[in-house]
Amino acid sequence: MTRVQLIQKIIDSKNFERYLEIGTYKGESFFPVVCNKKVAIDPQFNIPLKRKLKWIYKDYHNIFNTYIELTSDDFFKLKANFVKRYKPQIVFVDGLHTFKASLLDVLNSLEYLSENGVIVMHDCLPPNKAASTFANSFKEAIDMKLEGWTGEWTGDVWKTVVYLKEKYDDNINLCVLDTDYGLGYITVNEPIIDFKIDEDIFNRVNELTYNDLINNTSLINLKSIKYVDDIV
Ligand SMILES: C[S@@+](CC[C@H](N)C(=O)[O-])C[C@H]1O[C@@H](n2cnc3c(N)ncnc32)[C@H](O)[C@@H]1O
Repeated sequence: MTRVQLIQKIIDSKNFERYLEIGTYKGESFFPVVCNKKVAIDPQFNIPLKRKLKWIYKDYHNIFNTYIELTSDDFFKLKANFVKRYKPQIVFVDGLHTFKASLLDVLNSLEYLSENGVIVMHDCLPPNKAASTFANSFKEAIDMKLEGWTGEWTGDVWKTVVYLKEKYDDNINLCVLDTDYGLGYITVNEPIIDFKIDEDIFNRVNELTYNDLINNTSLINLKSIKYVDDIV
C-alpha cells in the first residue's frame, strides 16, 4: 500500500473533506488524493502550471487547491488564523526529514487538527542506515557521500514517533505501518494541552541509533500492513 492509497482510504472511510499536506514538492502525493479541499505547504514547490492543469482535468477537485509557499514553521506562525478556521481533518507530514522539524510539524498539526482527525507521517522506517542519517536537506545528505547510500533519505523522522509515544502515550494512538518507508498513523483519544517540546525526552530520544530501532521496532509500534483495516 502506498501513502496515497492509505490517505485515500482514511478520507473515504471517514468522509473527510479537508486535507493538509506539509511537504509537497512536485505534488506526487498531493494531486492524486481525492478530497474536497486540499491545502499544500512547501517553501519551494516544483509544480509547473501544466501539471496543475493536467490534474484539474483528471480530477476537478484540484481546482479548489490552495498552495502556500512557506516553511511549515512559518505557515503555522503566520497563517494561524487560516489554519484555525480550516481545521484539517487529515494532515500528511512529509516536509523536512529531521527529528526536530517533523516533531514540530506533528505538534503544530495536533494543535489545529479537527476532532477525530488523523495525522499520517511519511518516512518513519528508514530502509537502511545511510537513509536514516541526520542532514538539513536531501542535498546535504547526498553530499555526505555516505557508505551504503542508495539515493533514499528518510532522515531521523522515526525519532518523532518514539518521542510522541513516550510523551503522549495517554493521549494518542500511534503506530507505523510497514509500507512505503513507514507510514505513521496518529489519532487523538485524550486532548493534548502541552505542545512544548520536552528537552529531556528529546535529547534522550535523539541519542538513539538506527541499530536501536532495527533491534527493537516496538519503539515505533511497527505494524504489518495486513492490519490496516483494523487500524483505519
Ligand atoms: C519528500 S518531498 C515531499 C514529497 C511529496 N509529499 C510526495 O510524496 O511526493 C519533501 C518536501 O518538503 C519540503 N520542505 C523542506 N523543508 C520544509 C519545511 N521547513 N517546511 C515544509 N516543507 C519543507 C521540500 O521543499 C520538499 O518539497
